[in-house]
Amino acid sequence: MAHMMTNNAVKPVAHIKLSSRAQSAKALRVKPAKGAKSFKCATVAGSFMEGTEQAPPDPILGVSDAFKASTSPDKLNLGVGAYRTEELQPYVLEVVKKAEAIMMEKAENKEYLPIDGLPAFKKCTAELLLGADSSIIAENKIATLQSLSGTGSLRIGAAYINAWLPGKTVYLSNPTWGNHKNIFADAGVEWKMYRYFDPETVGLDFAGMMEDIKGAPDGSIIVLHGCAHNPTGVDPTKEQWEEIASLCQEKGHLPFFDVAYQGFASGSLEEDAFAPRMFAEKGLEFLCSQSYSKNLGLYGERVGAINAVVNDAAVATRVASQMKRQARAMYSNPPVHGARIVSEVVGDEDMFNEWKAEMEMMSGRIKSVRGKLYDYLCEKMPEKDWSFVTRQIGMFSFTGLTPAQVENMTNKWEVYMTKDGRISLAGLSAAKAEYLADAIVDSIKNA
Ligand SMILES: Cc1ncc(COP(=O)(O)O)c(C=O)c1O
Repeated sequence: MAHMMTNNAVKPVAHIKLSSRAQSAKALRVKPAKGAKSFKCATVAGSFMEGTEQAPPDPILGVSDAFKASTSPDKLNLGVGAYRTEELQPYVLEVVKKAEAIMMEKAENKEYLPIDGLPAFKKCTAELLLGADSSIIAENKIATLQSLSGTGSLRIGAAYINAWLPGKTVYLSNPTWGNHKNIFADAGVEWKMYRYFDPETVGLDFAGMMEDIKGAPDGSIIVLHGCAHNPTGVDPTKEQWEEIASLCQEKGHLPFFDVAYQGFASGSLEEDAFAPRMFAEKGLEFLCSQSYSKNLGLYGERVGAINAVVNDAAVATRVASQMKRQARAMYSNPPVHGARIVSEVVGDEDMFNEWKAEMEMMSGRIKSVRGKLYDYLCEKMPEKDWSFVTRQIGMFSFTGLTPAQVENMTNKWEVYMTKDGRISLAGLSAAKAEYLADAIVDSIKNA
């Protein structure tokens, strides 16, 4: 069989019988084996990877590609959850620039980090999650591994579940950030959904959520957005969080917090850690991924962590060892630059306070454009109740626009957004709020 040949496998042969498909392929001269006469054999028509199917564009990052391709001066990218200035430009935090200047002076080397990351970063990130005075940290009942931002941290958590909690089903909110499904599915973990959003009230379906969490088999894994739920912008109240914690405790469920927007819900880093801190105080064990993409604007640096809060320091040590094993096989060790930035900022009181002020500024700008959008929508379509716009929190607004209406937003108005009707208000300026309101009202009335 001509197509199975490698250089080592070439045997001196007199002739090769070609199939009709191979006969039509271009002939190729192959270096003959020692002592053999030169001869021709055939290449295979098509590629070894011929059977690969085209993957669909990513529902969120694909929107950014379409936005870039547009030449319209009106175009607005409300797809990806990335903070923009009032001039709609990417923003590098002042405190990040300061940290980088300090790092330049230190001129540290670029050696590999340990598999589980920069020790100073691990300390800071656990403290940011649970509070510097947390008894869990003092008693070493937490395993922390620096990983590739929120996504990579979730992926390590999913790999850990697959290896060490086999057969467990993960429950995701309906709806959720689209990548959650990919992450757990690719790690070989079964996922199902629990009710979360009520389109009627454009708010939380708390009764449905509790019923589904109660209905899940004891000892299931419940993924909870720590704050600023993506895509709905709808969070449980503190009282509801207490009830969720009690139910998880009663059912022996393992919560898995995804904390990707700490600081963006309320503007306060502490306030936004309410749910995981309260769960920890109640004595619940949980997993928790963290991301510094949004709150420190370190999107491309890929800095985050996966934490396991457990009730026994010896278990924490073993869990950490297994997470390290997973990371080693996937990417060996995490990048150093972003971890140093986080350590400089969180580890220094003045810098930390500066970060808090910038955090408030960013979340304040989003709240302000939210208010402007609400005012324009009420003015242009007073017959509709728009109160959900200001009730929702964080970067996003879940507009309730149908796929046809979303298509109108993009095709007619050049407003790029995800098909589920989510808009990122972090990508809106006060100057463009009226334009967006016009686009939404037109899409509702005419699409
Ligand atoms: C809910 C949620 N989790 C995790 C992430 C992960 O983001 P990253 O990998 O950039 O930190 C995102 C980003 O949009 C998100 O919305």
